[in-house]
This record gives sequence, C-alpha cells and structure tokens, in this order.
Amino acid sequence: MKGIILAGGSGTRLYPLTKGQSKQLLAIHDKPMIYYPLSVLMLAGIKDILIISTPNDLPNFKRLFDDGSSIGIKISYAQQMNPNGIAEAFIIGEKFIGKSNVCLILGDNIFYGVGFTKLLKKSVKEISSSNNALVFGYYVENAESYGVVENNSDGNVISIEEKPKFPKSNYAVVGLYFYPNSVVEIAKKIKPSERGELEITSINQNFLKNKQLKVELLDKDFTWLDSGTHESMLEASNYIHTIEKRKGRKVACIEEIAYVLGLISKNDLINLAKPIQNNQYGKYLIEKVLK
Ligand code: G1P
Repeated sequence: MKGIILAGGSGTRLYPLTKGQSKQLLAIHDKPMIYYPLSVLMLAGIKDILIISTPNDLPNFKRLFDDGSSIGIKISYAQQMNPNGIAEAFIIGEKFIGKSNVCLILGDNIFYGVGFTKLLKKSVKEISSSNNALVFGYYVENAESYGVVENNSDGNVISIEEKPKFPKSNYAVVGLYFYPNSVVEIAKKIKPSERGELEITSINQNFLKNKQLKVELLDKDFTWLDSGTHESMLEASNYIHTIEKRKGRKVACIEEIAYVLGLISKNDLINLAKPIQNNQYGKYLIEKVLK
C-alpha cells in the first residue's frame, strides 16, 4: 500500500501565520505539523509516500525530508497547482499510486490513542483483502464543519455528506482514508462541488453507492484533532505538550518510529540526533530512544 499526505491549501484561515510558509510546516508543540500524519503512515507500515503541496511550499518540504532515506522510507513530491479539493490527490498521484491500494491522510490531522497502530495495520489488511474503502467516524459536537457519516444500528453506512447544515449524526469523517486502487478512476469521474472542489466526500459517496464503503467509529477515548485555526493549533500544541511531559515519551517522533520499526540503524539515529544534541528533541533521541 502507498501513502499520500495532502499538504496543500492557501491556509488563509491562519493568515498571517501562513503567508510566508505552509500551514503543515507550522509547529505543533515541538515538531512540524506534518510529522503527525507522516508518523501515522509509518505506523501503518507504509514506506512509499507522496507529499502533495503547492509549488511555492514544496521546496520547504523537500528541505525537511529530502528523499526520506534518513528515516528509512521513500518520499516523493507532487504539486497541486490550485486548491481544487482533496480528491484531486488521486489524480495528481495517479502515476505514483500505479496499481497499488492507497491511504490518504490530510496534513493537518493529528491522531493519538491506545491501539492506533493495531487499527492501522488491520485497515491496511482489510483493504488488501476486499474492494472496500474504509473511513473513520469520530464523535464531535460541531459535525457541520466536517464530512458527516450516518450509520444504522447494524453499523452500515446510510449516508455521508460534506459539511451539511443539518448533520444527520455527530460523527465527523476524519482525514484518514484507505482505498482500493479503483479510487483513481472514481476521482477522475467526480464533478466539483458548489464550492468548486473535488470533494473526498463525493468519492466516498461513490463507494457507498457501490456498497463498498466501510466506516469504523473511533472510540471516545481516542483523540482526533485537526489544526486548521489558531485556536485548534494552540489546543493541539498544549495537548501534545501535556502528554509528552506526563509520559516522558514523544508523540509522532518520526526518527524514533523509524528506529523502533527497524527502518534505520542505531548509527543512523545517532547521526540524526548528533547535530541537535543540545536541544530537547536531540536529547530525547539520545537519552530516551537510544538508551
Ligand atoms: C476536509 C473534508 C471533510 C473532513 C475533514 C477532516 O474538510 O472535506 O470531509 O471531515 O477534512 O479534517 P476541510 O479540511 O476541507 O474543511
């Protein structure tokens, strides 16, 4: 399975913060926002990853990750020329996806919770053994701000709508999607919505029409944050800071994940940590991860 991180958008909701750089490179506590979705793909066991961003912002992502080899994965890059919507990722990424199944994660989504890696692994397996798409629902109070999924008592999806004025449930569709390869052809067929975007929800509605959409509801104990406003960024930073301080372990530390998964050697990790050994991030790698 291949992975795509969509890190585009003009980020006007976060101006002036995002006038000079991409939203997904802004800090969530001690690391760039994109580390969080990247860590999710790594934990899912995905090693071939495409980052899609604007022509302006791509060089900064390249500076950050290069070809991904320093963390034992392969990262490639592609441009989204205009904010044409999330579903365009599959058209832009067609060549990259090839004949594979694909997991898409939005560059501003943060996940944290016990059993998450297990859930990711299970999802990858499920897609490889069926033609179903898999999305996740998360209980929120402001469902009208998201894609909203409605289930019946058997757990089957009845409807899925993008930012409905009157949501049929409180379950928001989170920005993490698993698709079979057919998603590419579906993406090519859908039409832009009223806001002029190729909606990920239109893709999901297509899978639903074909009875190929599965939704898993995430447990209440689980945390899903998006970081699209000044307030939600601050909340996410505070949340990560609190957890990291309390547990003495970092969340979404991609260097640690690469090492623990055996994608890089001890020496590789030392080489990553050495230049930053005087700050708390480097100290963590040396004193906690390498110990
Ligand atoms: C997008 C999707 C929406 C989804 C959300 C998750 O919303 O369109 O269906 O629930 O991401 O973060 P947007 O970021 O465009 O507001």
